[in-house]
Amino acid sequence: MKVIHILSYLSAMLVATAAAKKSCAPFPDSMEIFTSGFEEPAPPLVKSSYNTSFLQHKWNANLSHITSGYIYNLPKQNLVISNEAYDGNLAASTFNYANISKDGLVDNTIIYIPIDGNDTNSESYRGYVNPGFPLIKDDFLVSNGASYGGLVRRELLPDKVASWKIMYQGSIPVTVYVDSCDVVVGYDFFSPYLRTYVITMYFNTQTA
Ligand SMILES: *[C@@H]1O[C@H](CO)[C@@H](O)[C@H](O)[C@H]1NC(C)=O
Ligand SMILES: *[C@@H]1O[C@H](CO)[C@@H](O)[C@H](O)[C@H]1NC(C)=O
Ligand SMILES: *[C@@H]1O[C@H](CO)[C@@H](O)[C@H](O)[C@H]1NC(C)=O
Ligand SMILES: *[C@@H]1O[C@H](CO)[C@@H](O)[C@H](O)[C@H]1NC(C)=O
Repeated sequence: MKVIHILSYLSAMLVATAAAKKSCAPFPDSMEIFTSGFEEPAPPLVKSSYNTSFLQHKWNANLSHITSGYIYNLPKQNLVISNEAYDGNLAASTFNYANISKDGLVDNTIIYIPIDGNDTNSESYRGYVNPGFPLIKDDFLVSNGASYGGLVRRELLPDKVASWKIMYQGSIPVTVYVDSCDVVVGYDFFSPYLRTYVITMYFNTQTA
């Protein structure tokens, strides 16, 4: 039961990164959508090897789920690892993108550790899932043909960031936020079925 509960929300999550160094050039004025010199920029390659803290809120008509934790996006090892705390419990979830089933599902191992209540025995699960944590590679925006949505402000981040829109796997509308260092700093997505919306914010991100 616990594992099923975890899966149901983990599978709705997507990943991205956040910024650390601010030593890169600011966005050019031409990326402000209401300037006379505006032209749609090409999507950037992003820095895809990263560790980041994250906050995520997922809601629909039937739930409101908030979690926080730490993500490792490891494209060289074909792994995404998400360690999380939510509702007073802990979970560690690993997505192994080197092992994908014929129908495109990804090998997922979860260790769930209840720390509220008397039963604190950990449980584990392994199987193929449709992951909400994509493995972000350098060309994530380029290969998905991202459309530019302008410079926006995001909570937790001091400077404006660029928003990019993609249709993830051709069916889920995702907005990906990228700072001027080409570091992903969060994403939002929604699914019309059940009117589900998910916002994810990154902070204290370290890139390789
Ligand atoms: C969501 O909650 C409503 C009201 O309780 C219920 O009628 C509906 O079946 C629920 N939907 C799902 C998918 O659980
Ligand atoms: C948890 O353990 C305490 C102390 O043994 C006991 O009083 C309580 O009934 C237990 N709670 C549950 C939900 O089993
Ligand atoms: C691939 O993933 C499946 C599902 O989790 C698992 O049963 C299997 O052992 C994995 N195979 C390898 C070689 O890791
Ligand atoms: C992420 O964390 C791991 C483990 O602490 C570390 O080996 C790795 O260098 C870190 N990667 C980045 C990009 O900071």
